Amino acid sequence: MTRLFAALAALALLPAAAQAADGGRVFQLQCRTCHGAASTAMGPALDGVAGAKIAARADFAYSKALKAKEGTWTDAALDAYLAAPLKFAPGGRMTTAVANPADRAAVIDYLKALK
Ligand code: HEC
Repeated sequence: MTRLFAALAALALLPAAAQAADGGRVFQLQCRTCHGAASTAMGPALDGVAGAKIAARADFAYSKALKAKEGTWTDAALDAYLAAPLKFAPGGRMTTAVANPADRAAVIDYLKALK
């Protein structure tokens, strides 16, 4: 009985662990509706965004709040923005946050691979 329980517990934990480390899955579930391969009214395209200047695409009308931010999308800036977008850029247009730090790290790695 104990062994059966342990096996079931392991099965239940596996998908959660895999999901936490899978930035592509986080992106599909939480970002893809607004961020496609091309910029739309819903959101800017994100290819090359890691390391780029904040709010710098010519094909998207950013909020004044995000435009006013100085600097580039470093890991730390992306982490702060995804943790609390409206704290990072009060009055900005993106409200979706990623609460879990492991999910944030994974989706930031995913963004870095978007060329
Ligand atoms: C409901 C739509 C929506 C969702 C969902 C969304 N975003 Fe956004 N995102 C936006 C909008 C709109 C902006 C521009 C914000 C502004 O101008 O203030 C933006 C901006 C960004 C930027 C800055 C882009 C740049 O060119 O400087 C990054 C990075 C980003 N989003 C990442 C993500 C990630 C990662 C997710 C998923 C965890 C996500 N977004 C989910 C709408 C969304």
